[in-house]
Amino acid sequence: MAPGETAGYSYEEYKETADWLLSQTVHRPLIAIICGSGLGNLADSLKDQVIFKYSDVPNFPMSTVSGHAGRLVIGTLREKVCVCMQGRFHLYEGHAIWKTTFPIRVFQLMGVRTLIITNASGGLNPDYKVGDIMVLKDHINMPGFAGVNPLVGPNDQRFGERFPCMSDAYDKQLRELTKAVFCDLGHASLLREGVYCSLGGPSYETIAECRMLRLLGADAVGMSTTHEVISARHCKLSVLGLSLITNKTVMDYESMEHANHEEVLQSSKRSMQFLKEIVTHIIGRLPCLSDAS
Ligand code: HPA
Repeated sequence: MAPGETAGYSYEEYKETADWLLSQTVHRPLIAIICGSGLGNLADSLKDQVIFKYSDVPNFPMSTVSGHAGRLVIGTLREKVCVCMQGRFHLYEGHAIWKTTFPIRVFQLMGVRTLIITNASGGLNPDYKVGDIMVLKDHINMPGFAGVNPLVGPNDQRFGERFPCMSDAYDKQLRELTKAVFCDLGHASLLREGVYCSLGGPSYETIAECRMLRLLGADAVGMSTTHEVISARHCKLSVLGLSLITNKTVMDYESMEHANHEEVLQSSKRSMQFLKEIVTHIIGRLPCLSDAS
């Protein structure tokens, strides 16, 4: 690979996509939102929408999962310009890890400074209930233990440093703001704060794996997010992670429960409106971020 190239995509390819998107709209997003499984309708709240199918955006990967539309929606929410991903890229789709995080660097080059990530996850913490929302305070990037990290390969200093810190991955102020929004809306009892663990998927976890993850300190498990957060922190975006607990993981050999995608989508559908309301309030109360702030 030539110097200056990142694994897979070159700087010029990220730039080409960012410039192309900016040339198609007058919107200049400062906030990006990634919509998790069944949570794509979050983007419906945007005003003055401009919509791009991933297949129409130069260099963009394709989303293959049901419940993920595969569109970028740019518009305003509470007077703040946002870009929404309806559908994200997962390792289990067969994408290389550097492909799954392509949009993050594109957003950064477009001027985005805050990333709000939503996902659906299975609750490992016995206190968690279906419908709870966990604000991520930390993560365990399990694929990273096997060298699967979006920053593997030559480092491009134009995005960030070779060895980025991850102990402050989830912005404290954004977490505090989220807690304040839940309290003010009278939903404090639904809010959790915890550790998200990502696995490669697509198979759900065995009972032994769930027990192990719980012992390791994870509160919820899913198949996304951590690669996006690593890439976002590398290029200095502030990150807020919100995880909807769509099912309780099976921890007990006597249990008759079985994790399944239908249940995940059904739970997401039930909580969609609520999550929309929460994200809208959070965005309404975000300081107007820019390079200068
Ligand atoms: N495991 C992994 N990913 C998930 C789950 C789960 O139980 N629920 C939603 N996404």
